[in-house]
Amino acid sequence: ASAEKGGFPSFMEKEIFDQPAAVADTLLGRSDADGRLTLDELRIAPEELAAISKIVVLACGTSAYAGSVAKYAIESWCRIPVEVELSHEFRYREPIVDDKTLIVSISQSGETMDTLMAVRYAKEQGAKTMSICNTNGSTIPRESDAVLYTHAGPEIAVASTKAFLAQITATYLLGLYLAQLRGNLFQGQIKDILADLGKIPSKIQDILDRADEIKDLARNMSEANSVLFLGRHVGYPVAMEGALKLKEIAYIHAEGFAAGELKHGPIALIDDGQPVFVVVPSPRGRDSLHSKVVSNIQEVRARGAKTLVIAEDGDSAVKDFSEWVFYVPETPTLLMPLLATVPLQIFACELASAKGFDVDQPRNLAKSVTVE
Ligand code: AGP
Repeated sequence: ASAEKGGFPSFMEKEIFDQPAAVADTLLGRSDADGRLTLDELRIAPEELAAISKIVVLACGTSAYAGSVAKYAIESWCRIPVEVELSHEFRYREPIVDDKTLIVSISQSGETMDTLMAVRYAKEQGAKTMSICNTNGSTIPRESDAVLYTHAGPEIAVASTKAFLAQITATYLLGLYLAQLRGNLFQGQIKDILADLGKIPSKIQDILDRADEIKDLARNMSEANSVLFLGRHVGYPVAMEGALKLKEIAYIHAEGFAAGELKHGPIALIDDGQPVFVVVPSPRGRDSLHSKVVSNIQEVRARGAKTLVIAEDGDSAVKDFSEWVFYVPETPTLLMPLLATVPLQIFACELASAKGFDVDQPRNLAKSVTVE
């Protein structure tokens, strides 16, 4: 088993360290030298894809957070409305879908019953269905009109890590492909974004090379009984994912919030010593998001929080308000989840291990949930 884990103490840690390859392999062969997307594998005609009026992403758990990241990117690049819904909620209301709706299901296993049932339901309503999936030949892609496989390789640990980054990567490819088909972006813009994506694997590697900075923090926090995560824009699903990882494997109460929502309630939770992770957007972004999030850090700190910050290299504004800062390499804001998620995965994995838990087989959870 130790050989299968590639010398790592757990599959989860191995899979976290597999992430440069998971992203690179998912990008591989899907665009040409001119920066044109070549998703020939999709079985939906380009004319039909160009004519869709909305996208509904259906998924559960971590895969649904990948969908939330996709919403920001696809709406920005393609100007198509994107809804993201948990599969099990979708089917039990009367969702409005028709033949101009593209359903994008996201599933690592391709066997999640909730998602399968939601896809079947949407198909009956006449929607076009596309599956983003990590498992060749599994049920959801087989039952969908089209499939875009993620190439993360088999994921063994129950807590999803490399599949998540590969899913996000695949949704970016889909977004760029739609933008190309529909003429929403210039070819040069698509080429530039692809070039930025191409640099992501080595940037993830840079984070992995500094894993000890995160592990030290995690070991010092093994007594924490609640950890909060704040993020905004694409940092919001990253915060949700950071919280989910901690719940799943370390059994610690954790919650992710949109930072702007703090003042509407969650700030009441903050008292002395409360650990709060904050995912800070790039200071190079167009709008004032960065300074808003820096104010959020100050607000929780003033109430006693222990502020643990994920910021971009060169961001000098956060230092004075943070107990601990981890810098991730520069990248365009929409791609940032591929980097900012990684330290949170390492944190959860190390903290759970420090508590003596089996991170690969957390209690009460199954790798794929094949019951409704
Ligand atoms: C992630 O760490 C979880 N174990 C879980 O939320 C998972 O993402 C969810 O059950 C969906 O699984 P799928 O991607 O195989 O459909």
